[in-house]
This record gives sequence, structure tokens and C-alpha cells, in this order.
Amino acid sequence: IPHATVWEGQILPGGVTTPDKMKAMQDMVFDENDVIIVSYPKSGTTWVSEVLSAIAYEGNTEKLKQVRMDERVPWIEMDHRCWDPNSPVQASAKGPVRDGKKQIWFSHLHLDYLPPTARAGKCKVVYVARNPKDNAVSYFHFHRLTTFMGLQKDMKWNDYFPLFCSGYICVGNWFKHTLDYWKFTRNNPNAKFVVYEDLKKDLMGEMQSLEEFVGIPLTPEQRLEVVKHCSFDSMKDNKMTNREGLAVFDHGETKFMRKGIVGDWKNYFTVAQNEAFDELYKSKFEGTGLSFEFE
Ligand code: A3P
Repeated sequence: IPHATVWEGQILPGGVTTPDKMKAMQDMVFDENDVIIVSYPKSGTTWVSEVLSAIAYEGNTEKLKQVRMDERVPWIEMDHRCWDPNSPVQASAKGPVRDGKKQIWFSHLHLDYLPPTARAGKCKVVYVARNPKDNAVSYFHFHRLTTFMGLQKDMKWNDYFPLFCSGYICVGNWFKHTLDYWKFTRNNPNAKFVVYEDLKKDLMGEMQSLEEFVGIPLTPEQRLEVVKHCSFDSMKDNKMTNREGLAVFDHGETKFMRKGIVGDWKNYFTVAQNEAFDELYKSKFEGTGLSFEFE
């Protein structure tokens, strides 16, 4: 895979994640003031990042709009010098001291590679999952926005589909990623499993449950304001959440905030691909207690 970084058998975003950072990251010490959002790429990470940031900023959306998202929600395995040599995120081993009530982070790492303090329950972990068919389609489009996830911009859907199914792709196998965190978050008071389709159905309710989880209750007025601020349309119009102005993204052909719907996979999966995928999904998910809604 061109552009990818390979570290201990993991295929990681190249030029963004460096072996140096992967090693240093294992010593990051997280505690009760930290919340780490973990996700497979394109499952709604940015959405949950904005909701949790807004909670950490106690509903102050005006303040949120002033701070670049990669600074307020640092990507823990990213070597921030790749994007910005003077990034304050790189300033200390752990990261900058923030003014929100909690420090929010995000990661795409598989459970086995999360820093030990996070795995040991010293901080809160929020896992974001999305139905794999839409997740696959969103990831396919992401390659048109940037090459740092390793695939070529002109990749065709039919060539990409088997890569997603087999996990021979940046960040690896979707099934393993999701199911490992499903087991980790179940019956774990420091971890929460959040689903994209549930956010679409009831953002307000999901947000309230995130507030409880991190221990920062908002007022009904603040909550209304944050729900408005985190709608797809306002996040698309917001340069900070649409991740505009970062040289690694080419917004010419597609946008970071692309479509934001459930069921777009129907425009991509052929009948044969859908049948094959359903079979794979069934074989991996049977008996796990986890299932997704696809429309
Ligand atoms: P699509 O490509 O299907 O539109 P991530 O942040 O993990 O990279 O995920 C990006 C996906 O989440 C994109 O999906 C994006 O449009 C969607 N998304 C982000 N914010 C959203 C919102 N407020 N409402 C609905 N979808 C959102």
C-alpha cells in the first residue's frame, strides 16, 4: 500500500503516523480527566468529537468555532509535526493542557495497540461504530480527499470492495476492530459504545447519555444549542469541522462532510457484493449480541 506506515504488522496512515510516534505513544499516561474517542475511520469520529468537545466546553459553541479541531481533539497516534511543525499538540509527550473541563482525544488504533493506561481503564473510552456497508462507502470516498490513508485517488469501487472486506487497508480489519471494542466496552463502566445510526435517530438523547458518561451535565438550552451546532449542515458549513484549510485534504472533488446519511451503500454495492458481504457479516457477528441497522 503506497503511503502507508507499517508498524508491528499494523497498516497505519503514512506520513501522519510515524514509527517514532507509535513508540512514544505507548508511554502516554491518561487519567480521569481524559476521554478517548476510538473508531474505525469514517464511522462518525468527527461528529462525536464535536459533540464531546461541546460538552467539555460546557456548550460554548462560539469558543469551539475558534479552535481547530485537530488541536482541541488531538489524534493520539498522529505525529502532529507532519501537518504543522509548530503544533502545540507536539509540545509535550502527553499533549497540551486544554481549557475544556475534560481533554478529548481520538484514535483509530485497534484495541491491542491503545496505550496501556487507556486499556486499563484509567480514562474514559468512547467507541464509535457505524454499519459496515456505509462505513465502507464513506471510506472509499475518503481516498478521493487525501492519499494519507494509503490508497490511490482514482481507485474504483470494485477494486476497493475486496480490500475493505479482507482488511488489507489502512487501520486494517473492520470486523476485528469493531468486535474487539464491543467486547471491551460491554460491562465496562469506563467505556461506552456509540452507534452512528443511533446518533442519526436521536442526537439529543445520545448526547445526554454522553454527558452522563463524562459527568458534565448541560442545561436544556445548552443542549439545544449544541444539537444545532452538530447538525450535518452546520458541521458542513463550519471550516473547523469540515477540516478545511489543511493541506492534506483536497476538497475539490468531495468534502469531509460528504453526505451524512444512512443507506448510501445501496448506490455502490452490487447484488453479488451485497450477498457476499451479508454472509461475511453473519459469520463474524453471529452470537456477539451486536447488530447494525443498514437503512
Ligand atoms: P459520509 O462520507 O457517509 O458522508 P469520520 O469523522 O469518522 O471520518 O466520519 C465521517 C463520516 O461521518 C462522513 O460520512 C460524514 O459526512 C459523517 N458525519 C460527520 N458529521 C456528521 C453529522 N453531523 N451528521 C451526520 N453525518 C456526519
